Amino acid sequence: MTDSAEFWDRRYTHGDLGWTLVPHPLAVAELALVPPDTSAGPNAPGCQALDLGAGAGRHSLWLARRGWRVTAVDFSATALERTRRQATAEDLEVTTVLADLASYEPRQNAFGLVLVTYVHPEPPQRAALLARAAKALAPGGRLVVVGHHLDNLGRGLEGPSDPERMFTPERLCAELPDLRVERAERVIHTVTTASGEREAYATVIRADRATADRPGRPGSETGLPHHEPYQEIP
Ligand SMILES: C[S@@+](CC[C@H](N)C(=O)[O-])C[C@H]1O[C@@H](n2cnc3c(N)ncnc32)[C@H](O)[C@@H]1O
Repeated sequence: MTDSAEFWDRRYTHGDLGWTLVPHPLAVAELALVPPDTSAGPNAPGCQALDLGAGAGRHSLWLARRGWRVTAVDFSATALERTRRQATAEDLEVTTVLADLASYEPRQNAFGLVLVTYVHPEPPQRAALLARAAKALAPGGRLVVVGHHLDNLGRGLEGPSDPERMFTPERLCAELPDLRVERAERVIHTVTTASGEREAYATVIRADRATADRPGRPGSETGLPHHEPYQEIP
């Protein structure tokens, strides 16, 4: 993966932290669709969420406030310290794990929800990360991925400068062969920049691990990912 832990530690120490305080609306819209399933107890996969590249914990904390037991993984000690401090202040169930996603192996079949937001490694590492994320899902579990769409490139918005690291629905679907893709879209949304509000493009993926009563992957007959009608969020 290209960015170092030191780079992110510096950013979390000295950078503009406004974005770290507010959960991303596109992620929240997806996360709100999956409340924790408490029927088998708090330690069962239905209550366990995994946030890969969790940063300062805006989504981990959002999930924990709604009853998920969250494992937040990042290689920035500074970001995880912020997450821990806030979780303690609110008495939330968030376990932080300091690890490099390039080698981190989450527990398999263990999580009802896995989240990857705005983490943009190079393609081979991205494919490996998504494969491990998929394996971490329990049957019926859900993966949510949100990040910069390739179309943001060169428009003066945040995100990697390497086009290969940008997301497209097609790229991410190709890296999730074992999941049932329910949503794979380019979505337009608004971001606040130093020069005012700007239109930005995100890629949003929602994919489930198959269960006996919901097998396979919609669209697999055609080779195309299934997705809902194109949706623009102003
Ligand atoms: C743009 S931030 C997004 C943070 C969080 N997902 C969010 O949406 O607020 C990217 C995060 O990925 C983490 N990250 C990047 N590469 C990583 C790696 N190889 N191992 C662990 N964390 C990594 C960074 O430390 C940073 O916190």
